[in-house]
Amino acid sequence: MGDYGDLDRADIAPLIPRSDDYAWRAYESDPLRMPYIHEAIQELELPRGGRGLDAGCGLGLQALMMAEEVGPDGHVTGLDISPRFLEYARTIADKAGFAERVDFVEGDIYDLPFEDETFDWIWSADAAGYPTREPLALVEEMARVVRPGGTVALLVWTSQQLLPGYPLLEAGLNATAPGIAPFTRDMGPGTHWMRLLNWFETAGLEDPRAKTFMGEFQAPLSNDIRTALISLIEMRWPGVKSEIAPDDWKLYQRLCRTDSPDFILDVPGYYAFFTETLFCGRVPAQ
Ligand SMILES: C[S@@+](CC[C@H](N)C(=O)[O-])C[C@H]1O[C@@H](n2cnc3c(N)ncnc32)[C@H](O)[C@@H]1O
Repeated sequence: MGDYGDLDRADIAPLIPRSDDYAWRAYESDPLRMPYIHEAIQELELPRGGRGLDAGCGLGLQALMMAEEVGPDGHVTGLDISPRFLEYARTIADKAGFAERVDFVEGDIYDLPFEDETFDWIWSADAAGYPTREPLALVEEMARVVRPGGTVALLVWTSQQLLPGYPLLEAGLNATAPGIAPFTRDMGPGTHWMRLLNWFETAGLEDPRAKTFMGEFQAPLSNDIRTALISLIEMRWPGVKSEIAPDDWKLYQRLCRTDSPDFILDVPGYYAFFTETLFCGRVPAQ
């Protein structure tokens, strides 16, 4: 067996055009997340033979992991708003030998194209909106398609420390609009992801709980992890120039450009981490 069914991670590279920057970065940054995403999926204790939905599935790699978890009698549907991503996901699933155990459907997580109570669980990782839209409507729509007693799970980005030794710069970058995504300045604190447990309770879900998972990395970095961290750093603070002081912008470029002699990943003893938090709850049994 490979990393994903019959496929090793490296086998996926030729299936995604490098010209598709968003999809390529999703592939490149996968090694940073795969280990703890596996743990997060296990945390859900998915039922063998169960049927689930991965909403905002992207390349569909997590749909494959969940299909693995529920075994050959189970089934996972991946849903995404992007037909492009769905095409990649179908090709990857086919080549991984999962064609019978997963399918992929175009749709919007805020308006799911499924009947009530279709699934045993719904999972959504880093997909439910940047910026966040109406949180309660999101959780209610997710819960609608899950059977009584089933699980609603959202995995969201919650923090990072990627620039060791530069806490002020990193705090400044994180305080920009892109840096604090998923969030928008004109939405109140109650809509921030860290308030998700409240949305779960308000939506009537039982046993709402949160658990934080961490990706951490230290020098010497393998080629895969180095490439993935470069991708992450490039994606993390896009378009911040107008929101930070000119000196901070210079420092940011000095530390974060791969062609800089002071590129942050080359500092001796580089260490970094980030966190994603799993929020989940149960649809009340009738
Ligand atoms: C950052 S990627 C995450 C993909 C995957 N869940 C993962 O964790 O690797 C975000 C994905 O969500 C999809 N997406 C964004 N808004 C969506 C929406 N309203 N409904 C469904 N999918 C959406 C995007 O097309 C993209 O594939």
